[in-house]
Amino acid sequence: MHTEVVAADKDGIARAVALLQRGEIVAFPTETVYGLGAAAHDEAAVLRVFAAKGRPPINPLIVHVLDLAAAAGIVRVDDRARHLAAAFWPGPLTLVLPCRAGAPIAPAVRAGLPTVAVRAPSHPAARALLTRFGRPIAAPSANRSGALSPTRAEHVLSQLGGRIPLILEAGASEVGLESTVLDLAAPDGTVTLLRPGAITQGAIEAVVGPIAVSAGDPDQPTAPGQLLRHYAPSVPVRLGGGPCGPTEAWLGFGPGDPPPEARASLNLSVTGDLEEAARNLYHMLQALDRPDVTAIVVAPIPNTGLGAAILDRLQRAAAATTR
Ligand code: TXA
Ligand code: MG
Repeated sequence: MHTEVVAADKDGIARAVALLQRGEIVAFPTETVYGLGAAAHDEAAVLRVFAAKGRPPINPLIVHVLDLAAAAGIVRVDDRARHLAAAFWPGPLTLVLPCRAGAPIAPAVRAGLPTVAVRAPSHPAARALLTRFGRPIAAPSANRSGALSPTRAEHVLSQLGGRIPLILEAGASEVGLESTVLDLAAPDGTVTLLRPGAITQGAIEAVVGPIAVSAGDPDQPTAPGQLLRHYAPSVPVRLGGGPCGPTEAWLGFGPGDPPPEARASLNLSVTGDLEEAARNLYHMLQALDRPDVTAIVVAPIPNTGLGAAILDRLQRAAAATTR
């Protein structure tokens, strides 16, 4: 299959909508990372997403909607969800809520769970696509399962080229990390952070009070221990700085020179700005993932605010290559 990359302008959106209506899948930009979208009500289309990514069928997809009213057609919305949506939508927060009986959601989206994850993206191209299509769009990140999420159209092309018909292009994703995923569906009322992201734990707690943090793996909600690789480049990743060998690459953070012996080096943010680091993270990991590099050594990053989400992704990348 030939993969076309087109600008996410009016014509591009129209072509993407035509494909979605025919049950095809398309990659599109969001403020977090690029997504791989399918009509959320169309089981055959959703199964194409799993096939193109090589995603295990046990891992459910996020359903993208324009707003809370559209979400309420899919899930049972409570007061906490209303308050969180009022504070953070549209934006990088995904809410896991009980699925409504008879909701127009293909079974594969939920992967057998009684819940659905919903998110209203803020990216204008994603919103134009949702508006013109007129129905919810199921979309995981547009990468091969387990690999780094794409923050640029070229990343999507290198991972999914030949497997999907169309990529809508709109430059680099502004946030650069996948959305915060919050579980609001527990019968006992506990709110649990399943995946840290740009909407931080502190920001969420300011709206709904204290929340729990999941120790488990958000990519294995139903079958822990089955997936070995997450958010990982193909070479090993080492965290916390330390010595860097002559065949290793250095990923810096903050001022200071890279180790002179490093084969290659990039800096997530010379000024130590966590937002800039999040935006650069996947692109720089991808750029340092070279045949002549045997490992990527990452400088220490503070575990505060957005740093928690950056470290979460880096720890998975490191774990994937050491276990
Ligand atoms: O920022 C994002 O969230 C991007 C853009 C495209 O919106 N999407 C994304 O999707 O990261 P994906 O599929 O790569 O990650 C979705 C996460 C997974 O960890 C999945 O297990 C979790 O959300 N998830 C989806 N539905 C769930 C559910 N019903 N219960 C618990 N976790 C769920
Ligand atoms: Mg993903």
